[in-house]
Amino acid sequence: VKEIKVAQIGTGFMGKTHSLAYRALPTFCPADVEVNLVVLADVTEQLASTGARMFGFENWVVGWERIFDHDIDVVDIVTPNDLHPVIALEAARLGKHVICEKPLAVDVAQTLEMVEAVEEASVVNMVCFNYRQTPAIRMARKLIDEGAVGEIYHFRGQYLQDWCVDPQSPFVWRFQASKAGSGSLGDIGSHAIDYARFLVGEIDQVVAMTDTFVKERPLPGSQTMHPVDVDDAVSMLFRFKNGAMGNLEASRFCYGRKNMLTFEINGSEGSLYFDWEHCNDLLYYSARDQEDRQGYRDIKIGPVHPHAEAFWPIAGINMAYFETAVLQACEFVTAIAEDRPAVPDFRDGLQIAEIMDAALQSAAGGGWVKVKQVV
Ligand SMILES: NC(=O)c1ccc[n+]([C@@H]2O[C@H](COP(=O)([O-])OP(=O)(O)OC[C@H]3O[C@@H](n4cnc5c(N)ncnc54)[C@H](O)[C@@H]3O)[C@@H](O)[C@H]2O)c1
Repeated sequence: VKEIKVAQIGTGFMGKTHSLAYRALPTFCPADVEVNLVVLADVTEQLASTGARMFGFENWVVGWERIFDHDIDVVDIVTPNDLHPVIALEAARLGKHVICEKPLAVDVAQTLEMVEAVEEASVVNMVCFNYRQTPAIRMARKLIDEGAVGEIYHFRGQYLQDWCVDPQSPFVWRFQASKAGSGSLGDIGSHAIDYARFLVGEIDQVVAMTDTFVKERPLPGSQTMHPVDVDDAVSMLFRFKNGAMGNLEASRFCYGRKNMLTFEINGSEGSLYFDWEHCNDLLYYSARDQEDRQGYRDIKIGPVHPHAEAFWPIAGINMAYFETAVLQACEFVTAIAEDRPAVPDFRDGLQIAEIMDAALQSAAGGGWVKVKQVV
């Protein structure tokens, strides 16, 4: 049994998710590991100490630099995006394995630095595109690999939320380019881009348009306004290297859509449709079905499907967000135990950064922009 000693930085939404996932690993993950939650960091004593008690860490520290005072193997980065690079670089320099939330950094240059650092240090590295861990997505990939949809013509992706529509919704780091990089594009659109790459292949060129509907927001608990300098919404068209056509929309301004991460894929033999708000259902249409009974069939995800085996004994009990984090943590610790690369890794994160950068260049007036290939 390999012992893996974890340091985690950040106690927010993802801090909670990642640490809970580590604690669930012995129940669901076959890896021959013992994961110990050694130290948790945040910016105040209150956040760090409360987080350590709630999440089950042995120690807490104020300020991320102090995690390295402890004996650790892994650094788990769940802070705002602008802090990912400095932490990842230091972790790699000290030979620690790194798992980092998406997007990896605020721009391509910093993302590249992170890739070079982890590759030079030969540490296991993983970027948290957790939505690709969803069993229905693995089943979609299996159907594509088996030729069940044939040659792919279309990928139509969306990631829509509505938590930003209210102009009084306060200014948080997600509205600031220096901390987030981009807005809806990096925050949610990056997951839809990950689906496009995972299911269809690499993107060759992009044309995009963005908008910022609410140009300033009140600082939390105050009347003082702060300018918003990221996109509220992005629409993009793209061409895959294999010739398929793609389009994708990401917006946090869609009343009624809470976490609507969808795609439809249309091919020469059939189609697939998925909506993450109904993530236990994969819709599959086969053109090979007898004509009088053709229609989308609803595959109910259960233990016979890839990535769902270790969870619940029957379909219909349903898996959701938490299980994606468990599967992600399982992939990361298994890669460490087996001394192999984790998937998706920082280079995947860099490829997505390149696609987002091409989209932003295009939106700024560049027309079609060729995507630099780095994988
Ligand atoms: N994969 C997903 O589904 C998903 C979902 C949400 C967020 N994210 C990503 O996770 C990351 C964190 O997002 P979140 O929603 O948890 O944010 P959050 O604002 O809820 O939490 C961020 C945490 O980082 C802490 N922090 C800030 N500066 C710090 C510092 N210098 N040292 C230590 N801690 C510091 C904050 O105090 C807070 O606890 C972001 O990169 C975001 O894009 C991913």
